Amino acid sequence: RARGPLAGRTVVVTAGGTREPLDPVRFLGNRSSGKQGIAIARAALAAGAKVRFVAAHMDDPAPEGVELAATSTALELREAVNAAAEGADVLVMAAAVADFRPAEYAASKIKKGDDGGAPTIELVRNPDILAELVARRNAEGQRSRLPRLVVGFAAETGDAAAGVLEHGHAKLSRKGCELLVVNQVGEKLVFGTDRNSVTVLSADGSGPRRFEGTKDRVAAGIVGIIGAQLSR
Ligand code: C5P
Repeated sequence: RARGPLAGRTVVVTAGGTREPLDPVRFLGNRSSGKQGIAIARAALAAGAKVRFVAAHMDDPAPEGVELAATSTALELREAVNAAAEGADVLVMAAAVADFRPAEYAASKIKKGDDGGAPTIELVRNPDILAELVARRNAEGQRSRLPRLVVGFAAETGDAAAGVLEHGHAKLSRKGCELLVVNQVGEKLVFGTDRNSVTVLSADGSGPRRFEGTKDRVAAGIVGIIGAQLSR
C-alpha cells in the first residue's frame, strides 16, 4: 500500500499544450512544455497518490507510474478529463488549453493559390474545461463524484506583480476553482525551462503562498497545499 500524505487519494493532472488542427499538416499551438504538470504528477506519486495523467503535447515523456491518457486537441482533452475526474479527489489543470480552434478543418492542405492573397482563418471558442467541470460538480452537490479540490493555472504576461495577483483573484472566483496557481510567463520566462516562480491563491481566504525555484520545488509546494486542504 502507498504511504504518504496523499495515500488513498486519486489525483488527475493535465499537462502540455493542446493543438488545434487547421489542415492535415498545420495546427494552432502554444509554448507549454508540460514540465510543470509532469513535476506535479511526480510529486503527487511521491506523496502516495494514484495519478491519472491527461497529457496534451509535451517536450518530455509522462512520468512512470501514472495512468496515462494521451490527447491532442482541447475537445479530446475535455473528454479525457471528464472521464478521469469521475471518482477522483483532486484535479490539477496544468495543461495549456487553446481558448479557440479553427472553425473549419480543411481535409487537404490549404494552398497558397496564385493571386498572392492569404486566407482568413475563422476561430470559434473552445469550452472552458475547468469552469464547466466545477459548474457540473456544484450543481450535483453532495452526491457528486467529481473532485472536491480543483486547481487551475493562470499564465499571465503582465509584469506589474500587483496587477497580476488582482487578475488572479478575479479569475479564481470566475472559474470557481479552489486553488489558482498564478505564474508570470513570457517567451524567455517559464516555458521549456526547469525553473518557475508562482503564487498560489486559495478560495478559502488563506493568504497567497509563493514558491520559487525548480519546477520540482514548485510542484512540492503545490502538492503540500493540496495535502493540507484535503486533510481538513
Ligand atoms: O482563462 P485561462 O485560460 O487563463 O485559464 C487557465 C486555466 O483554465 C488553466 O488551468 C487551464 O488548464 C484551464 N482552461 C480550461 N479550458 C480552456 C482554457 C483553459 O480548462 N478552454
